[in-house]
Amino acid sequence: MSTTASTTAIFACNVGDIEDGESLTLEANGGIAVYRVDGEFFATSDTCTHEKWSLGEEGELEGHEVTCTLHMARFDVRTGAPLCFPATLALKKYATSIDGDKVYVHLIED
Ligand code: FES
Repeated sequence: MSTTASTTAIFACNVGDIEDGESLTLEANGGIAVYRVDGEFFATSDTCTHEKWSLGEEGELEGHEVTCTLHMARFDVRTGAPLCFPATLALKKYATSIDGDKVYVHLIED
């Protein structure tokens, strides 16, 4: 028996809704942070893996790194990987795509 994962694209924002170095939070899947870096969009789970803190709303984005402003853990928004303590677990990473001026985040479904 084999299963094939498919994805569902959800609308995140328009390209012009956030500037480079900014982010926002979607309510889908328990919270998804969307980041804009040099015109590219990246998406991860929104909640810091150390404690509950929104990275999309409260994080500070610098290059491809988002800093959790509660205890200063940093994550790579391209991979979700933690870059320093106190976070040791990765954020969930989501694929993104742009169609015209609309940005989509892809959720993996079984
Ligand atoms: S809640 Fe993010 S570093 Fe503690």
